[in-house]
Amino acid sequence: MDQLDTFQDKKVLVTGGAGCVGSNLSRRLGELDAQVLILDNMSSAYEWNIPNMENIEVVKGDVRDDASLKRVFKEKPDYVFHLAAHFANQNSVDNPEKDLMVNGIGTLKILQYAQLTGVERLVYSSSGCGVYGLDSQMPFQEHDISISLHTPYQVTKLLGELYTNYFYNLYDLPIVNARFFNVFGPGEVPGKYRNVIPNFFYWSMTNNPLPITGDGSETRDWTYVTDIVEGLLTMAIKKEAIGEAINLGSGEDHKVKEMAQIINELTGNREGFAYIPRRNWDAKTKLLSSIEKAEQILDYQPQVSFKQGLEKTYHWFQENWENIEKSAEFDY
Ligand SMILES: NC(=O)c1ccc[n+]([C@@H]2O[C@H](COP(=O)([O-])OP(=O)(O)OC[C@H]3O[C@@H](n4cnc5c(N)ncnc54)[C@H](O)[C@@H]3O)[C@@H](O)[C@H]2O)c1
Repeated sequence: MDQLDTFQDKKVLVTGGAGCVGSNLSRRLGELDAQVLILDNMSSAYEWNIPNMENIEVVKGDVRDDASLKRVFKEKPDYVFHLAAHFANQNSVDNPEKDLMVNGIGTLKILQYAQLTGVERLVYSSSGCGVYGLDSQMPFQEHDISISLHTPYQVTKLLGELYTNYFYNLYDLPIVNARFFNVFGPGEVPGKYRNVIPNFFYWSMTNNPLPITGDGSETRDWTYVTDIVEGLLTMAIKKEAIGEAINLGSGEDHKVKEMAQIINELTGNREGFAYIPRRNWDAKTKLLSSIEKAEQILDYQPQVSFKQGLEKTYHWFQENWENIEKSAEFDY
C-alpha cells in the first residue's frame, strides 16, 4: 500500500488552509481522498485561492476563538496540520502583540483541543528562519537552535515548538515540528508582508525595478511548495517523526540577485534592480538547511529545482493574473 493511502477517508484539519502552503496541502489531501476541513480567518487569504473540491470544507474562523475551535474539533479530526499564523517578520515587528496572540495563544489552543479530542498526529509549521540564529552553524542542523532572535515572529515560531514539545512530553501528544525554509510557489499572493519571490514577480510583471534589500549576494534556501507538502504528509505518517523537529528545505542556497535575474528574464522585465538598505531586523545574510534528518526519517528528497520552481510560479502568476492584480496589497 502506498503510505499516502493513509489519508483516504481520514478527517484532516488544516488551520490556515486558505494560505500559501495550506491551499497546496489541502488540494493534495483532497486528491488523496481525505475529508479536509480548513479553519482560516481569511486575514491574509483569498477565496479564489482555495481549492474548490467536494471533499474540502472551509470554516471561516479564528484559531483564538473557542466557538470556531469547537466547531472544527467536534468533527474529531484524525490529523491536524497547524499552519495558521500571523505572517511574518516585518508584520511581527509592526504588530508584535497580534503576532503573539495568533502564533502563541492560537497554537496553545490548537494543542489543547487536539489533546482533548485525541489525534493521530499534529504537525506544526515552524520556521528555519525562526529557530536558527547567527550563533547556529550552517547548514543548520536541528539540534543547533538559537535563543538570540531578531523578530517577534521568530520568537513566536520557536514558542510554538516549545509548546508542542511540552504537549508531547506531558501528554504524549504525537506532534512533529516541521521547520520550513523560505517556501515559494503557486498560492502565495504578493503583498506588503509577503515573501520576496511573489513580490518580485508582481513588480517584474508590472515593469518595475526589483528592490533588493542589501547587495544581492545574500542567499536563501528557497523550497518549492509541493516539496514542503510531501514532507508534511510524510511527517504525519512516519512513526519515527513523532516528537521530532525536522527541517524541510531544498538543501541548496541561491543568491537574491540570481533569483531576481531569473525572474526578470522569465517576465521580460527590463527595469533591472534597485538597491535599498537591508531591513534592520534582517541580520541573516545566508540561510541554508541541512536536510539529512528529513532524508533519514522521511525519505525526503526535494523534487523541484529552483529554476523549475520559478518557472512554475511564473506560470501560476500568468494564469491567475487578474485575481492577483486585484488582491495584491502594497502601501507604497
Ligand atoms: N512561507 C514561508 O516561507 C514559511 C517559512 C517558514 C514557516 N512558515 C510557516 O508556515 C505556515 C504557513 O505559511 P504560509 O506561507 O502558507 O502563510 P500564509 O500567510 O499564506 O498562511 C497562513 C494562513 O493563516 C490564516 N490565518 C492568519 N491568522 C489566523 C487566525 N488567527 N486564525 C485562523 N487563520 C489565520 C491566514 O488567513 C492565512 O490563510 C505559517 O505557520 C508560517 O509561519 C512559512
